[in-house]
Amino acid sequence: MTVYLVGAGPGAADLMTLRAARLLQRADVVVFDRLVDPEVLMMARPGAERIDVGKRPGHSNSQALINALLVSLGLSGRCVVRLKGGDPFVFGRGGEEFEALDRAGVHCEVVPGVTSAFAAPAVAGVSVTHRGLSHGVTVVTGHAREGAAVDFRRLANPDVTLVVLMGVQRRASIVSELIEGGLDPATPVAVIERAYMEGQRVQRGLLRSLAELDVTAPAVLVIGRVAHLELSHLGSLTDFASALPS
Ligand SMILES: C[S@@+](CC[C@H](N)C(=O)[O-])C[C@H]1O[C@@H](n2cnc3c(N)ncnc32)[C@H](O)[C@@H]1O
Repeated sequence: MTVYLVGAGPGAADLMTLRAARLLQRADVVVFDRLVDPEVLMMARPGAERIDVGKRPGHSNSQALINALLVSLGLSGRCVVRLKGGDPFVFGRGGEEFEALDRAGVHCEVVPGVTSAFAAPAVAGVSVTHRGLSHGVTVVTGHAREGAAVDFRRLANPDVTLVVLMGVQRRASIVSELIEGGLDPATPVAVIERAYMEGQRVQRGLLRSLAELDVTAPAVLVIGRVAHLELSHLGSLTDFASALPS
């Protein structure tokens, strides 16, 4: 009885790891999230049961219910794949699921995935570290939870790239806190919506006008000197597909 906590990558099915694909072909049950591509699910064994536990506004499955479901599936002795968007341990609540399974005596293995924190900048041609521009990267959540929001004033550092997940709603306060912390309002920013998914879009600008961009989640915000880079030709899904060797 093993539950595999598997990262499905940021969107496109071919960004999943081989290990993840092999496990999907063995799974008896696949428990999946909202951001998992339908094409990924199609890679599961045809007879596998598929359970959608995606959290959508107004119809959420609480994390406690998901943990309980995973425990009961794990105890049933079936091969369970818990598929999560990106990497399970990057804002994926994979740690909590691991702990719940461990407490219940269910063996759990983690299969890392390509995280949107790095894949989304890459699709825009942004190298999150780049000699001479940035000597590090901080990945942080913009989500403010019951008084536990990140204080962006403490993250204002022109030498380090900031990658913000779940930050679309809080852009105005992120901008003012960073400027208050000393970051130049003319710092470049890039916003990548729906990376590797239908409707992918990249916008660039300056920190001071980040809140004025029209952005819809899911999106990754990149703040720092590297955000003006355009090192790739993968600007659109069409370009990407046609660039692949046939
Ligand atoms: C709950 S977090 C999960 C992150 C995930 N575990 C990962 O490693 O990518 C969800 C946030 O990830 C980001 N995200 C995930 N997939 C994305 C994509 N394809 N394009 C842009 N942002 C994405 C967005 O910031 C979104 O609000």
